[in-house]
Amino acid sequence: MSQYDDHDYSSQLQQADSEFTQLVERALSRRQFLRRAGLAGLGAFFMAAPLTQAIAEAVSTASATPDAAKLVPSPLLGFKGIPASTADTVVLPDGYNYQILISWGDPIFPDAPAFDPSGKTPASAQERQMGDNNDGMTFFPIDENRAVLAINNEYINPEIMFAHQGKAMTAEDVKTSQAAHGVSIFEVVKKDGHWVVDKTGKLNRRITATTPMEITGPAAGHALMKTSADATGTKALGTMNNCSNGFTPWGTYLTCEENFNNYFGTANGKFELNEQMQRYGVEAKEKRYQWSKFDERFDIAKNPNEMNRFGWVVEIDPMDPSSTPKKHTALGHIKHENAALVLNGDGRVVVYMGDDERGEYIYKYVSNGQYKAEDKHANSKLLDEGTLYVAKFTAAPNELKGQGQWIELTHGKNGLTPENGFADQGEVLIKTRQAATQVGGTTMDRPEWVAIHPNHKTVFCTLTNNKNRGKKDNQPLDGVNPRAENPYGQIVRWAPTNADHTATTFDWDLFVLAGNPTVYKEGLMAGSANINPENMFNSPDGLGFDKDGRLWILTDGNYSNEKDFAGMGNNQMFGADPNTGEIRRFLTGPIACEITGLTFSPDYTTMFVGIQHPGEDLLPSHFPAGGDSKPRSSVLAITRTDGGVIGA
Ligand code: FEO
Ligand code: CA
Ligand code: CA
Repeated sequence: MSQYDDHDYSSQLQQADSEFTQLVERALSRRQFLRRAGLAGLGAFFMAAPLTQAIAEAVSTASATPDAAKLVPSPLLGFKGIPASTADTVVLPDGYNYQILISWGDPIFPDAPAFDPSGKTPASAQERQMGDNNDGMTFFPIDENRAVLAINNEYINPEIMFAHQGKAMTAEDVKTSQAAHGVSIFEVVKKDGHWVVDKTGKLNRRITATTPMEITGPAAGHALMKTSADATGTKALGTMNNCSNGFTPWGTYLTCEENFNNYFGTANGKFELNEQMQRYGVEAKEKRYQWSKFDERFDIAKNPNEMNRFGWVVEIDPMDPSSTPKKHTALGHIKHENAALVLNGDGRVVVYMGDDERGEYIYKYVSNGQYKAEDKHANSKLLDEGTLYVAKFTAAPNELKGQGQWIELTHGKNGLTPENGFADQGEVLIKTRQAATQVGGTTMDRPEWVAIHPNHKTVFCTLTNNKNRGKKDNQPLDGVNPRAENPYGQIVRWAPTNADHTATTFDWDLFVLAGNPTVYKEGLMAGSANINPENMFNSPDGLGFDKDGRLWILTDGNYSNEKDFAGMGNNQMFGADPNTGEIRRFLTGPIACEITGLTFSPDYTTMFVGIQHPGEDLLPSHFPAGGDSKPRSSVLAITRTDGGVIGA
């Protein structure tokens, strides 16, 4: 979801903690040396700061050294970077093409009606069509020419979806809205070298905000999970604000519930928010979707616990349309961005996750048991029995790198006791945010996607931006979040000790500090040394690796193209080399869109990328059909003219 904050940061920057700024500027002084030496324009081959030894070893290839500033082109990136763009179209490097695989409202069943642009689609049609605002997605192969795609549908734009632009919502409109949320699952087939949707696929399925789900793990059945409609606290209806995703080695899809708070409210003027509602951002006045007005499940005065039943990681079996999705409470109750899962060397499953809110945390889950390839269904239990941790980052005063620690969120430990408001493990999980604060995790600049390098030695996380950094007491400047009112964002990288993802310690550095070197000639706002006028951007969000270790960075930022963001254009996508630090622009999107969602065919010759909310806030986009058509979120299938591997 687009959450940029467009105001002028330059004046506030001057009031920032100047001593700290000077110290970190010194840490980045190499970039200024390069600028003075006239080298900065040659390309982005320089790391933000020397790697720590541990990370250098972890990312090392034959060419990488702790001082990886080498004026050699990346051996990983085979495409020519493209310029920023403000055009209402998708632009790719020479030799690349895209097709629209599917757009919001396209039918995914033989009996589903075609998209109707009139803004009067009934729920019965929407629940047989592709949902809105596609986000995270995963490609599950069946055979060489057939696969299943599972795609999140994060939210809706009432101003685009409805003829009345959301100004006269009805009960039927709320049902249509609920049917446009969730997950769209459909088969794709390869025809004439291109993947296309198969509306007749037997596995096609829509999961919406009303689909029955099972609540599993330590918080299942907890008093705080019980509602008037579900006295057991184990049977939820639906999933929503499905942001990004993950997948498991046993072939299931993980969909992550993010800004669930926006769907709750009440018309009861006397209602007072409880502490849990306040911590998770639920407000009495529901501003946008108006579900609480027409569906009392979302009325917090009538059903105060319903909000505790969203904000989880949900597991879906894409190969069984009759399966019941599971909300895995062991993975914590937060505004989940994605779930990056790695099979550790000892067979245990580790899941990294971010809570996308200013000043919230990064988490890790470690299963108790080990993965068993021969027993698919037993593996799902690995996400019910395990330990949740929150990350704490430390750094020496003038360093943008350092060490870290995972602090356990287990009842009875680290102050997670009844005296502090945690009666049992269920309550620790339902109040994950409060537990993380209790144990002293590091508040972050809005953690978005986590991605694990294919060599399993390093983990990357986008910290998209944070207007509150340096302004709120709980969000001081520190090494990993070094800029006041951070408008640009950064990507942090860590290496678990001994490449063991269950270890409770790690080393970290910043892979990139995004910035604008044309507006800020020096200092942290200019960005790290791998940012230059040719590749600058703001608000990194989506993040993923391909099999060769190319890092793909997708943005959800300020597309005003002015002031602090001058020259950055529309939202966009980059390929990066984690060894050399080089970052190259690969794709630019249409007007007022976000680029989000990334998956590949198994041979990596087709890349699927999402264009979310083109033309939001009624800005002038007509993507993808052009003319005066209604803008529609869409999934691109990107290929090379020569059929080669994307990015190589
Ligand atoms: Fe749905 Fe944090 O992005
Ligand atoms: Ca996101
Ligand atoms: Ca975002």
